[in-house]
Parts: sequence; C-alpha cells; structure tokens
Amino acid sequence: MTKILGIETSCDETGIAIYDEQKGIIAHQLYSQVAMHGEYGGVVPELASRDHVRKIIPLVDASLKEANITPEQLSAVAYTQGPGLIGALLVGATIGQSLAYAWQLPSIGIHHLEGHLLAPMLEGEKPEYPFLALLVSGGHTLLVSVKALGDYEIIGESIDDAAGEAFDKTAKIMGLDYPGGPILAKLAEKGQDQTMRFPRPMTDRPGLDFSFSGLKTFAANKIAASDGSEQSKADIAKAFQDAVVDTLAIKCKRALKQTGATSLVVAGGVSANISLREKLAKLMRDIGGKAYYPRHEYCTDNGAMIAYAGYCHFKQGEILKPNKYPVKVYPRWPLSEAFS
Ligand code: KG4
Ligand code: ZN
Repeated sequence: MTKILGIETSCDETGIAIYDEQKGIIAHQLYSQVAMHGEYGGVVPELASRDHVRKIIPLVDASLKEANITPEQLSAVAYTQGPGLIGALLVGATIGQSLAYAWQLPSIGIHHLEGHLLAPMLEGEKPEYPFLALLVSGGHTLLVSVKALGDYEIIGESIDDAAGEAFDKTAKIMGLDYPGGPILAKLAEKGQDQTMRFPRPMTDRPGLDFSFSGLKTFAANKIAASDGSEQSKADIAKAFQDAVVDTLAIKCKRALKQTGATSLVVAGGVSANISLREKLAKLMRDIGGKAYYPRHEYCTDNGAMIAYAGYCHFKQGEILKPNKYPVKVYPRWPLSEAFS
C-alpha cells in the first residue's frame, strides 16, 4: 500500500506527516515556532532555518513511530520545494532528499500552495474536479480555477498585502500579540458596533483581484480616533474582519459566475477564520453548490497536505528516480508555473 512521508518547512512550522493510500493520514507531527518569533513580532528567517534543523529529524522519527512503520514501508518522500523562506526550504529539501537517498526511495518536490489547495481532499467529503479555490494565507490571496491535478489557472490575486498579512499587520497596529490573525479574529467576536464600516476594496469595479493594504491604514485611523477601550478595539476588529470577509465573498461570487463552478475549496491559514467559513458556506448554499474546507489543523502549514500532494503526484508517476537528488528550492514560485 502506498505510503508517503511529507515534509513541510517553508516558513515557521516544521510539519511531518505520513499519508497512507488506504487509511489516510497515519502520522501527523507539527512543531510551531511562533513562540520564538513572537519575541520579535514576526518571523526571523535565520532563526526559522536553525529551528527546522533542530526539530526535523526528531519529528520524522516520531512520525514513523506514530504510524508504527519502518522506512522500508514508505513509497516516497515528498517535501515543500517552494515558495517560502529560502533557508527554511533548504532544510526541508536537504533532509528530504537525504532521507530518500538513504532509504533508496523516490522523492517529490511539492509546491506549497498546491499542498494547501488539495488539503480539503483529506476530509471524508471530498470536492471533485473542476472546482474554484480561494487560497488565503499569510503570503498569498489567490482565486484559482482548478480543472484537474496540476491544472491551475490563477484568475484573481492580491496586488498588495495578502489577506493573512492584512490580518497580521492590522493586529500589530492594534497592539495584539504575534501572530495577530487568529487573535484579531477572536477579538472580533466581541465587536458590537453595527455602524462602523470599513471599505470593501476593489469591489466597485469589475475583476477578481484584491487589495488589502488600505485596510490597515483605515484601521490605524479608527484606532487613533477611538477611546482606546477594549470594546472599541473589538468593534474595530469586527469591522475590519467583516470587510475582509465580505470582499473575499464578493470576489468568490464573481469567480463562481465566471467559471460556472459549483464547488468552492477554501484553504490556507485564513480559511480557519470562522466568520469567513460561515459567509462562504452560506454563499454556496444560496447558489446550490458546496464549500469545502480542510479541518482546522490542516488549514495552517502542516506536513499532511504535503504528504497528500506527494501521493497524488506519485500516483501519476511524477517522481524523481532514486540516485538523482538535486537540492533545488524555489523561494518565489508562481503556482501557475509549477506545472508548465
Ligand atoms: O497558510 P499559513 O499557515 O502560512 C502561510 O503559508 O502563509 O497562513 C498563516 C496566516 C497568518 O497570516 C495568520 O494570521 C492567518 O493565516 N490566520 C488567520 C486565522 N488563523 C490563521 N487569519 C484570520 N483568522 C484566523 N482565524
Ligand atoms: Zn501556507
């Protein structure tokens, strides 16, 4: 039975998992560096690389133990080849290729965003091709028309800040801890002011691109004008979140119309946002379609999505033959170029 080891080290999470063709994910190990980077208010690339070096082998060992298998039972090693922080990627690629070499297994370099995009396939109810995908992470905001595995057409993207980046930067301006996205979302739950309204950028003109950088300035002005109370902060957080969620939903609706898709996959760190999930689930119900999300732990960076993407490509025979193990990573790597 095919079993793939997945290695994710593109940013500040060391994620190792094993996907089994029959049983699904049989090992899932994750070490998050957020506490370390929190001190600096953002990811420090060199510290990230060093921490991946420390954690990766123990997590591979823990994964094999969790799955109760030996390396001989693996079929291939998949690792994130890009995009991401170059040092962090190099750690995962070097270890991935070295393990594949030592175990005489094929290896598969995976595009990080494809991992996110396919993560909802790990759930019981899987989307079927073709579908529309909204990828919302700390580094990307993309609308992708997915016709088949590897057939990804980007039909909309952010021209400045990504959705997650907008959450994080706004949270920082509000004095919230790092990483701010989920903390701002939690605070937004306490928001009550129905009158405060942020703009919905670029929705007043046709097209599927996004722009979120203006929202943080808008938030900064609201904070400066507020009384600084916890309630005011919560109100601002809610108004900000409503604007991001609404904007994403408006563009999704347009993209669904344009592509004729009836399935929507929502993935990437921001897909953990409850308000976004509810809004898009309703949108899809209203048009007689369905929204698909990964479970919470597969929304943010993890090894399971890399193991699964590796499995999909392994099945198609897209592998590097043993004894050819170049360590090559792509810090900047458009999804549309991954399969061209
Ligand atoms: O996919 P991911 O783990 O890493 C990247 O590939 O970027 O996404 C991380 C991003 C961060 O910007 C984080 O603040 C955001 O996802 N995020 C959230 C929530 N949970 C994570 N943003 C809004 N609401 C959340 N609940
Ligand atoms: Zn990611």
